[in-house]
Amino acid sequence: MNQHVSLMPNIMSLEDRHTSGFYSKRKVAIERGLGASLWDSNGNEYIDCATGHGVAVLGHSHPNITTALTKQARRLITCPEILYNDQRARLLDRLAIETPSGIDRFFLCNSGTEAVEAAFKIARLSTGRREIIATKRAFHGRTMGSLSATWNPNYRKPFEPLVPGVEHVPYNDFSRVAEVISENTAAVIVELIQGEGGVRPADYQYLRGLRELCNRWGVLLIFDEVQTGFGRTGKMFACEHYDLAPDLLCLGKGMAGGLPMGAVGIGDRVIKLPRGMHGSTFGGNPLCCSTAIETMNILHSEQLIPRAERLGRLFKNELETLDSPHIKEVRGLGFMVGIELKMRVTPILSELMNRGVVALPAGNFVLRLLPPLVITRDQLSRVVNAIRDSLATVAPTYEVAHAV
Ligand SMILES: Cc1ncc(COP(=O)(O)O)c(C=O)c1O
Repeated sequence: MNQHVSLMPNIMSLEDRHTSGFYSKRKVAIERGLGASLWDSNGNEYIDCATGHGVAVLGHSHPNITTALTKQARRLITCPEILYNDQRARLLDRLAIETPSGIDRFFLCNSGTEAVEAAFKIARLSTGRREIIATKRAFHGRTMGSLSATWNPNYRKPFEPLVPGVEHVPYNDFSRVAEVISENTAAVIVELIQGEGGVRPADYQYLRGLRELCNRWGVLLIFDEVQTGFGRTGKMFACEHYDLAPDLLCLGKGMAGGLPMGAVGIGDRVIKLPRGMHGSTFGGNPLCCSTAIETMNILHSEQLIPRAERLGRLFKNELETLDSPHIKEVRGLGFMVGIELKMRVTPILSELMNRGVVALPAGNFVLRLLPPLVITRDQLSRVVNAIRDSLATVAPTYEVAHAV
């Protein structure tokens, strides 16, 4: 073992030397966060519109999360589901209240992809059928089962053969689902707003049609709300915008105030699940259960969800009024906003970093903004200004470089 490694000052070179290599990283080392702000190792501040891919719904280091976490850590950190636990019981009860009616059983896990894996297994168990219908541009995770439903061929191809029986049909195209659904279909899985696929909301009639079609064919409808859940879109769950309930509801990201947690909500069209067929070592641990309960407490007590709806609309309007020739469309709901550009997004993301804003791509041409629900109006205005200035700075050079 290299005994001096831990004392080396350069965070980036250490990470670069020992990381898996799977991630392309921005040249900034973040050391601290509070609310919507992050600080790097040189003390520079950033407004966080990436929130760890949508995890930090409550912003960073919310004091009530820190308190819940430390309090629970002193009592009990781990407790498998072969034993009962007070925090888990409270969380399950709370989830049954917060999720759409009909959903009152939950499988607890540790990430979004695990929630999707579990939903697929439950769908197969419950229906005795094998096939899954997913959508083009979908993102459901990167483990082998969820990856089979993720659409991007760059993520999928190197790992084939994947789980068989998954068919991708165009998003928001009801007639294609109606064409391919059959007595072999176990489930249809859909994001209510495609996140990674470009921040594309589902049409109202499309989703209502899917609900009705699934009922008719004895198929389970899975809503993947890993990114849209827990207030992100201005409702606790995005399906509330559509007044619809799924049979299986996949959750993750912001669920436990920044700690790793996922869940599948299970509706009443799903059979009583047989013991021993699925499980998770860390799933339902008291530490994450306690911060998940606190997350829902904070969302309500600070009225963050209606705030996200209101300020999100304002934010979207301000972005629309930028009226930039480089913007094709602004889309989204609440604090899940995508700006489709007429140029590649990567240079804009770098320029935004220079200007103190961390944002995300959604494909090659969409700038994705997932600010925390606690972001201030002043910070939102600074983000809008940074986007306007970044486009004005970068776009002319880009246009010259890409001129035919
Ligand atoms: C809609 C959706 N489903 C599933 C996942 C996978 O979640 P995780 O990265 O926690 O495995 C993501 C992650 O971005 C997502 O956005």
